[in-house]
Parts: sequence; structure tokens; C-alpha cells
Amino acid sequence: MTTNEHTEALKVTDTRTGRIYDIGIVDGAVHATDLRQIKTGNEDFGLLSYDPAFLNTASCRSAITYIDGDRGILRYRGYPIEELAEQCSFLEVAYLLLHGELADKAELEEWTDTIRNHTFIHESIKKFIDGFHPDAHPMGILVSTLAALSTFYPDAKEIFDDDRRKSHIVRLIAKIPTLAAFAHRHAFGLPYAYPDDDLSYPGNFLNMMWKATELKYRPDPALERALDVLLILHADHEQNCSANVMRAVGSAHSDPYSSASAAAAALYGPLHGGANEAVLKMLAGIGTVENVPDHLARVKRGEIRLMGFGHRVYKNFDPRAKIIKRVASEVFEVTGRNPLLDVALELEKRALEDPYFVEHKLYPNVDFYSGIIYQAMGFPVEMFPVLFAIGRMPGWLAQWEEGILDPDQKISRPRQLYVGPEERHLGLAASSRSR
Ligand code: CMC
Repeated sequence: MTTNEHTEALKVTDTRTGRIYDIGIVDGAVHATDLRQIKTGNEDFGLLSYDPAFLNTASCRSAITYIDGDRGILRYRGYPIEELAEQCSFLEVAYLLLHGELADKAELEEWTDTIRNHTFIHESIKKFIDGFHPDAHPMGILVSTLAALSTFYPDAKEIFDDDRRKSHIVRLIAKIPTLAAFAHRHAFGLPYAYPDDDLSYPGNFLNMMWKATELKYRPDPALERALDVLLILHADHEQNCSANVMRAVGSAHSDPYSSASAAAAALYGPLHGGANEAVLKMLAGIGTVENVPDHLARVKRGEIRLMGFGHRVYKNFDPRAKIIKRVASEVFEVTGRNPLLDVALELEKRALEDPYFVEHKLYPNVDFYSGIIYQAMGFPVEMFPVLFAIGRMPGWLAQWEEGILDPDQKISRPRQLYVGPEERHLGLAASSRSR
């Protein structure tokens, strides 16, 4: 019998050998490397755990975001998302995620000013954007230009220099709205609208998106605040697919621009941040309330997925979806009601009453209503994942920084279960190739 000094342990019998092991339990988890002591003999590498999508594997210890999926709880640094969305600005939340504490008045002013001072991008970046086809997806442009930024800041490689690292964190938060808005204006053949540092973070983004011939763009305060809240709701979500990518690329000590570009590429996928775009396309495809039952029948036959429904972690409700419904009504008071809202409401109502969705614990997620709001605000569907990326940037950076500074972290390098052919030789294959 093998014993380790642990106050809590898992007693495991290996039925192959009859040996019994005590595997220590710390913070409700066993260390996967402790399984390696479980061997059938000296030649055996040791037991591996198999978890292809990290369904039950903690990849890090993190103090940033807490989620309880069964109870629909989401907290950033301990603060409930509902309170943050009600009382804070997005930049305050970004500060909280990155610093661990809320900023006091002076710290917030300094943080906001520093972000404002870095909103411009190098003029050469515009030349890259000009090179894209007019119908290029803005998310593709964003992924590319985020990576391109690393070439303008070679010192971003100095990731363990605190001052340099912090300066590039600021730059990424400050510049992503500029890259995003420029990508949009390129698609529409519009001249780029430069940042206006008098405006708030969301106000300036709206300015760069929509400014026309007016000397000074003045955002509608209700829409400016709605966008701020939407960015807060997207700011972090612990070890989601793109944060995991950010940490994995960061674990190779790549610079933050390259890491963020990879994270944005992950977010682009329709199962992740691309879902809000997919929801809108789905709702437009359904068209009218009468077509909802047919659509749900196709979902239940397994032909398609109900986009904007379901979540790996939330199995009861997504707290962000609740807040978004409130924001939607505030936005529609300014913009008028989005006609697709009726289709969405009918879809939600019928799905929540249907045993298939109840049994599969499928509820609306953050993406179900966000797209309807963005569309009412005038954003083209292709911009929806880009908006998600702007909101998620502070979360990616907080996760990246926590990862690279964590002494437990090494280069991210999973194991595999090899299921390919045994060793074989070219002899016969080589002669048949030459024939
Ligand atoms: N529509 C229909 N069935 C679904 C859906 C859906 N949206 N989501 C899950 N299921 C079913 C799935 O078919 C499976 O059924 P069964 O057990 O009978 O085979 C079961 O529910 C479990 O599905 P899963 O794919 O194993 O669940 P997951 O935790 O791996 O996937 C998810 C989570 C978000 C990828 C998935 O629910 C999904 O594809 N949803 C639609 C896309 C979407 O809205 N994504 C946005 C997620 S929230 C924002 C973000 O994190 O980016």
C-alpha cells in the first residue's frame, strides 16, 4: 500500500494489480500527476486521466472569476455581476479584474486617463486594414491586426518586466475598440473616424463607429450606458475556450498581442463568441412566430442546435441573460423594438416549456439576447463577435497575467492516448510507391 501525508485523500484500488493508493485531495481536487504513481510495472508510464474537453479538469488556480453554474452565480473578484452591471463602468470593472480590487477615485481617474491616452493606433495599421477585401469579416481583421500590433511593440516580449507588461495591457484595452471600429468602416467604405478622448470608453467606440460629418459626435446616453453594461457582462468568464487559449499561448511566453489574437480567433467560433451572430441569423431565418414550432422540432430531431441556448457551466440559468433582457428594453425605448424580439421571446417561451430542453438543462445564454440589442443599435451582425471581444479583453489579460506569474504554471502541453498504428516499416510500402 502506498500512503501520502494528506488530511483528505481518495483511497483507490487498482484492480489490475490489487494495490491500494491514497491520492491526496486539496481544494476538492486530486492532482492528475499523483495518478502517475499507479503503475502495472516498472515499464508502465503511469495512469493518465482522459478529459478531451476539460469537462472535469481544473487547468489552474484562479482568483479572478467565480461561477456556480447550478445556482446561476457569476462574480468578478468576489463582486456579483448584478451589482457590477448596476453600479460600475466597464473601465472600473477592467481595473477590478486586473488589479483584484476596485479603484478608488484617484486610481480610477488615472486608469481612465491612461487608457484614453492610448486609443490611437499606428497609421501603418490602417494600411493593413485597407488591404482586406471590403467583405472581409471584421473578426478576421481584428484577429490579424491584434497580432500585427506585436510588431509595433517589440518590447512586449518582455513579459516579466512589470512596467512594460502593464503598459501593453493598457494598450490592448485602449486600442481594441479602435481596431474594431476601423474594421467596420473599412467594410462600408467609410473614412476612419479617429478616437475622441473627451468621450467615455463606450461613447468613443460609438463615435468611431458612427461619426459622419458632425464636428462632434454625441452618443445617446442610454445607448452609451447599455453598451457599457454589455461590455461588463462579457468582461470575464473564467476558463472559457478563449481564456484557455490566451493562457495556453501565454504559457509559451508569447507576447500579449499574439496571445490576444489567438484568444480572439477562438472567440470567433460559432460555439463561443460567434454564437450571437449565429443567433441573429437563426432568428432571421425563422422569420415569424408561426415558424418557431417547426424550428424547435428540427432542433429536437438533432438536425440543428438552438443557438444562444445551453452552456457548459450554467445548467439552470445564465445570470448575464437576465440582465441583458433588462438592457434590451432600455435600448428599445430609444431605438424602437427589434421585430426579431417576438421570435426570440416565443422561442424562449416554448423551449422553456418543452421537456427536451428542460431535461437537457438548456436555457438562454448571454448570446441569445445580446445580438438583438446590437442589431437594434445599428451594428451589423458581423460586428457582434467583435463587440464580445472588446468586452472580453480585460478578462483575457487578467487570465494571461495570472497564468504567467503563477509559479505552478508551466508550458501548456497535454498528454495524449495514442491510438494509431504500432511501429511498422517502410519496406513494402516503399516498393509499392515506386511502382
Ligand atoms: N441546442 C440543442 N441541443 C443542445 C444544445 C443546443 N444549443 N446545446 C446542447 N445540446 C444538447 C446536446 O445535443 C447534447 O444532447 P445529448 O446528450 O442528447 O447528446 C447535450 O445537450 C449536451 O451537449 P454538449 O454539446 O455536450 O454540451 P457542451 O457543454 O459541450 O456545450 C455549448 C455547450 C454552449 C457549446 C452548447 O450548449 C451549444 O452548442 N450551444 C449553442 C451555441 C451557443 O449558444 N454558444 C454560446 C455559449 S455562451 C457564450 C460563450 O461562452 O461564448
